[in-house]
Amino acid sequence: MHVKTAEFYKSSAKYEQCPQESLPDYAFIGRSNVGKSSLINSLCKQSNLAKTSSTPGKTQLINHFLINKKWFLVDLPGYGFTKVPVKVREKWETMTHHYLTQRKQLITIFVLIDSRHEPMDIDLQFMHYLAENDLPFSIVFTKADKNGKQKLEANIHYYKSVLRQDWKELPPIFITSSKTHMGRTEILEYIESLNVML
Ligand code: GTP
Ligand code: MG
Repeated sequence: MHVKTAEFYKSSAKYEQCPQESLPDYAFIGRSNVGKSSLINSLCKQSNLAKTSSTPGKTQLINHFLINKKWFLVDLPGYGFTKVPVKVREKWETMTHHYLTQRKQLITIFVLIDSRHEPMDIDLQFMHYLAENDLPFSIVFTKADKNGKQKLEANIHYYKSVLRQDWKELPPIFITSSKTHMGRTEILEYIESLNVML
């Protein structure tokens, strides 16, 4: 699929404020600083569509980006960011929970995982939360360019072995780098394959 147009559409502080159109949503979520906004920019081949930052906690709202006037990429605030007051964190969590569980247009969720790190409880728990709520998801390993090839393969192999302890079947898995655009085509083709089924 070609991304012909990609435009910022709307930021929403509440699930109820999200776009009312019946177009499909593809949401990106993961720990703060994992590279969600960068990946959205990579998918759209634009450098500053979604705001990125080396300081965690940059994305604080539900951000909709309209692609090819037909579907939305959705940038969600990161979870697991401890350096904000509990009240603020709870507000983000409630907003995200309402969005994930009530948004009818949500087709699938991409859970981003930093390919350099060992499996973390917070991510594994989040995947269980999605499964408990019957929410379909894929795993996207990010920042692949920051590993050597062997290290990358070993990390992902290990991650899958940890997942297999809990899951009979693994979800779709993508390995990406926003720097080199690795994995970009695969994710866009996957989204297209879901779009044609709607
Ligand atoms: P929050 O909005 O704070 O939750 O963060 P985020 O998940 O949107 O992360 P963001 O895209 O802002 O990226 C965080 C930092 O990681 C930035 O400094 C990016 O430049 C860097 N980064 C993201 N993806 C990649 C990647 O694929 N390769 C490299 N080398 N750096 C990356
Ligand atoms: Mg962000």
